Amino acid sequence: MKKKIIIANWKMKLMSAESAGFVEEFVKIYKSNKKMEAVLCPTFISLQSVAAQLKDKEIFLGAQDCFWEEDGAFTGEVSPKNLKELGCRFVIIGHSERRSHLLETDEVVHNKVKAALRQGLVPIICVGETFEERQEGAKDFVVMNQVTKAIEGLELDAEDQLIVAYEPVWVIGSGQAVAPEEAEHTHQVIRQVLIDHFEPATVKERVRIIYGGSVDSSNIKDFFAFQNIDGALVGGASLEPETFNNLIQQASQVN
Ligand code: PGA
Repeated sequence: MKKKIIIANWKMKLMSAESAGFVEEFVKIYKSNKKMEAVLCPTFISLQSVAAQLKDKEIFLGAQDCFWEEDGAFTGEVSPKNLKELGCRFVIIGHSERRSHLLETDEVVHNKVKAALRQGLVPIICVGETFEERQEGAKDFVVMNQVTKAIEGLELDAEDQLIVAYEPVWVIGSGQAVAPEEAEHTHQVIRQVLIDHFEPATVKERVRIIYGGSVDSSNIKDFFAFQNIDGALVGGASLEPETFNNLIQQASQVN
């Protein structure tokens, strides 16, 4: 059985000393369990030191982005090969903040997903509609299109895993998540797109669909109660070790 997963996306919010302080506390209070994986995604700058702190702990490391080439003349970029070398297992790709501020296109996202898989990293592909797209009734279409473009032509080898994070852009950081029933519906739509592309068994065993957007310890159980919600991508509620640990403990209580 696939484990559920909870991923902390610290964005550009925790500086290096704050990241170190978080991990120091978190490793003391976090109890790993068979049902759940926990992942921390600090900034690039903090990856190496957080990796050292997480050594021999059952907590995974992820990056918030990567480039689509392994090496070469790409000033300022960070290679998935380098992330792997630092001990990352996961990498967030195509977060809506990057799509809007850095103008990342579906093609860029696709290339990054391929590059991450080549290194044996698990891509966390972020998709989601804006408020305007939702008002126009285009939500499912937008999400289906983003997922399709990200995985077009892709095959998953035996060891490969993939995560799709459904994050409605308009609820990120708002303190107001969408109704879990609605997220479940969108996750079903995403699962169908994945099944149309990969073998159903592959999707069942190696692809997780997680929800992100104002998840906290008060609503996590409601999301995890749904069959098609395999985890959560958490921003604001992942910045304090006690708060994040509490959220994971709540989620662990759901069967
Ligand atoms: P939030 O962010 O939990 O603060 O809404 C989630 C995300 O952007 O991944």
